[in-house]
Amino acid sequence: MPDRFKLNLVQRPRRLRRTASLRAMVEETVLRPADFIAPLFVVEGKGRPQPIASMPGVFRYGVADLVKECRALAKLGIPAVALFPKLDHRLKDADGTAALNEDGLVLRAVRAIKEAVPEMTVMTDLALDPYTSHGHDGVLTEDGRDVANDRTVALLARMAVLHARVGVDLVAPSDMMDGRVGAIRAALDAADFTYTGIMAYSVKFASAYYGPFRDAVGSAQAAGTPKLSKASYQLNPANRREAFTELALDEAEGADILMVKPAGPYLDIIRDVREATNKPVAAYQVSGEYAQLQAAARLGWLDLARTRRESLLGIKRAGADLILTYFAKETAAELA
Ligand code: PBG
Repeated sequence: MPDRFKLNLVQRPRRLRRTASLRAMVEETVLRPADFIAPLFVVEGKGRPQPIASMPGVFRYGVADLVKECRALAKLGIPAVALFPKLDHRLKDADGTAALNEDGLVLRAVRAIKEAVPEMTVMTDLALDPYTSHGHDGVLTEDGRDVANDRTVALLARMAVLHARVGVDLVAPSDMMDGRVGAIRAALDAADFTYTGIMAYSVKFASAYYGPFRDAVGSAQAAGTPKLSKASYQLNPANRREAFTELALDEAEGADILMVKPAGPYLDIIRDVREATNKPVAAYQVSGEYAQLQAAARLGWLDLARTRRESLLGIKRAGADLILTYFAKETAAELA
């Protein structure tokens, strides 16, 4: 008996979705451990890793545990880590003086990782927010109503040289000051660190998704500074053309890798950046994106393993070559 509903179709896309094998053959985007950069928080002392309430599964590590974690990540095929220090509040001041301490926490952490896991690519953030009592990414002008751009850039350039000296592979300016990439490149070259690279947070939006990170490094007070908002240096989430301006500047000033941040709510920007440059593009799936999935999973509302995979796949499909994500370890383990 002929099926009277039978459509006369030449194209039936479902033919290639019929079996797992066919689906794998035509898969267009594949995640691999080498796509990931794991952000890691480091604290002073030998205490047990400290949980972060708004980021379940993420810890602040003392240097010894940080090294162990890097070993585990390397075993899983993750090539790189990005380090963020959480300083004791007594070490913070308005000028972020501790950022230039030659024996500072992050520098000791880099040395320890490079000694124990030399194959690990190590990146460090260049911004003053972990070091300033007010939590802004730079030093303030005298009246406290703005971040002093050029004075901040001079400090970041000195910081870059300190980081290069202990063997950091890439410095990552996340401050969004004007002219910082060029100044950092010049300072590194002048100090003969010609091959220390720059991964620029080129398109960093003033995002509410950074909330949990600010708990992690203790910079939350800046978000609430009534006189001065981070929106005076980070991009307006409503803007697309401005992303191209920042991108062009960072590329011209010598950035090696260009980053978009956050990732998930800005997939269009990742695609724009991908099409506008031949440099590698990184995207940062930030703390709030992580917290969102964790919270929903805890409530039993989402399947964590599947949604984190899908969120990362979306970021890669949009055009990111590299993804900074707090899901790096679990995802790499799952891919193995
Ligand atoms: C600060 C910095 C921030 C993040 C990375 N570097 C937060 C901010 O700008 O306040 C956010 C990362 C995240 O939310 O995971 N220079």
